[in-house]
Amino acid sequence: MTDEWRGWREAAEAALYGDEGFYRSPLRGPEGPAGHFRTSVHASPLFAAAVARLLTGIARELDTRTITLVDVGAGRGELLTGVLAALPDGLEVTPYAVEVADRPPGLDPRIRWCAEPPAGITGLLFANEWLDNVPAEVAEVDAAGVPRYVQVRTSDGAERLGAPVAGADAAWLERWWPLSAPGERAEIGRPRDAAWARAAGCVEAGLAVAVDYTHVRDARPPFGTLTGFRGG
Ligand SMILES: C[S@@+](CC[C@H](N)C(=O)[O-])C[C@H]1O[C@@H](n2cnc3c(N)ncnc32)[C@H](O)[C@@H]1O
Repeated sequence: MTDEWRGWREAAEAALYGDEGFYRSPLRGPEGPAGHFRTSVHASPLFAAAVARLLTGIARELDTRTITLVDVGAGRGELLTGVLAALPDGLEVTPYAVEVADRPPGLDPRIRWCAEPPAGITGLLFANEWLDNVPAEVAEVDAAGVPRYVQVRTSDGAERLGAPVAGADAAWLERWWPLSAPGERAEIGRPRDAAWARAAGCVEAGLAVAVDYTHVRDARPPFGTLTGFRGG
């Protein structure tokens, strides 16, 4: 631990995806994210059944019986396992789990485990609660009305305001999350836009679906949405 200050994007990257990070370290427990919070994936098999129906509809539209399903931010492969169990007869699915964490032991051998989505997908790319885990900078308006990057101290999580937000980040804020009053905060979603564009760009035919928390531009929460869950 040091007294180093850094932006939220870098701090979150290390905390979530570093060697000892929340999502990657085996020290966090074999159950992965599900050991700390529930998503729709864990709440009910109805969710996997709905994804299986969506996949079946896409296959029908594309007039094929052979189709790919890519789960980005796949956790421990729970959704893919559920979808494979809910498929109708006669539909041949190639499932890919895209994950930064290691493949869990005992996973259905049909599931391919990889770090990036495959190119040229015909089928469905699905990302449940992935994008809100893509680290982003946080901005806050200072007393003079200037949006500045929020910095966080490694040793204790204290915050301070850093340089004024500039360049492409400033343009993003102005377009998507305009700030005005001192104290107002935003997450600068540029890395999430880029991550989604990259993932969705792997779909050659079919559909890309992101399921996540959201709010529209005219109803942004004034103090941002930065939240963490651990141990329930
Ligand atoms: C909140 S969890 C959601 C897991 C699962 N989709 C669910 O709904 O239960 C987010 C997952 O995304 C993974 N993740 C984050 N960034 C990623 C990336 N760039 N590539 C692959 N996986 C990523 C994390 O490791 C974590 O397992």
